[in-house]
Amino acid sequence: MLKQVLEQGREAADAAIERLLPPATEHPTSIHQAMRHSVFAGGKRLRPILCMEAGRMIAAASVVGSRTGSPAGSLPTGIEDLGGALEMLHTYSLIHDDLPALDNDDLRRGRPTCHKAFGEAIAILAGDALQTLAYEVLAQIACPAEASVSIIREIAHATGTINGMIGGQVVDLEAEHQKPDIATLEYIHRSKTAALITASVVSGGMCAGATAADIRHLRTYGQSIGLAFQIVDDVLDLTQTSEQLGKTTGKDAAAEKATYPALFGIEESIRQADALADRACAELDEYGEAASTLKDLARFLVERKK
Ligand code: IPE
Ligand code: IPE
Ligand code: MG
Ligand code: MG
Ligand code: MG
Repeated sequence: MLKQVLEQGREAADAAIERLLPPATEHPTSIHQAMRHSVFAGGKRLRPILCMEAGRMIAAASVVGSRTGSPAGSLPTGIEDLGGALEMLHTYSLIHDDLPALDNDDLRRGRPTCHKAFGEAIAILAGDALQTLAYEVLAQIACPAEASVSIIREIAHATGTINGMIGGQVVDLEAEHQKPDIATLEYIHRSKTAALITASVVSGGMCAGATAADIRHLRTYGQSIGLAFQIVDDVLDLTQTSEQLGKTTGKDAAAEKATYPALFGIEESIRQADALADRACAELDEYGEAASTLKDLARFLVERKK
């Protein structure tokens, strides 16, 4: 069942991104090739999937609670494009994360990193271009204008400098080669990774007409799975091979990154990730059966092997 959600979600996200990205033949071709090289390298598409499933859950709850919404079980109109925009922002963050000035990685999603394949200048610009395209897409998604504005604000804030992705990346770099305290480590993980995952879930709900109470539940769910997700990313960097992950493993220890296993050890890190998934699931209890996919996804994120 979850396998089907993951496969169909990936296909829906890929179809949207394929439609939304300029063709590789479009002038200037180098940048469009670079954008496609990184986007279509085989990511898991977890942010679009979380977004779509949050939208589906809220749409179902809206019918039960006789709010206006899509029929139970169906996806809100236009949510695939929202998912596509989230994946563009995520891929932009990966391209820049891999640059020599940041993590200096050669392998991403099983392919040479963007700067290895296209050079640093085009890689920087490909990241920038994915970011601007994402907002062009967000400005056109098929949901009420008020929801669109809230979605754009939510996502822009989550990828920004204050408790957002860029802020987290800054502190991640500044914490290299230092023994971090728990508060700094949690700030890094909540900001660099959990913020965009939370925005994915929250914006999916907004697209489906979520109430303020729905948004509170989705935000807590997203923050919990988002932190768990980065804890597991840190663990996998130590326990998996580069072939399995499609990115160079063992690099966090080499760069003395602030990670959960560095501070707590692998076992305790896994225990904390499990507890966060429990917390995320409990937050959705009141949605009953409609929450089963998001709960399955929370478990999957902590049990994943890549
Ligand atoms: C990797 O994210 C970067 C982090 C924020 C930890 P994913 O593990 O979702 O990477 P892809 O999209 O599947 O390549
Ligand atoms: C990256 O964290 C988070 C981003 C915002 C891209 P990592 O540096 O741990 O991600 P990987 O392990 O390179 O995918
Ligand atoms: Mg990094
Ligand atoms: Mg990295
Ligand atoms: Mg990592």
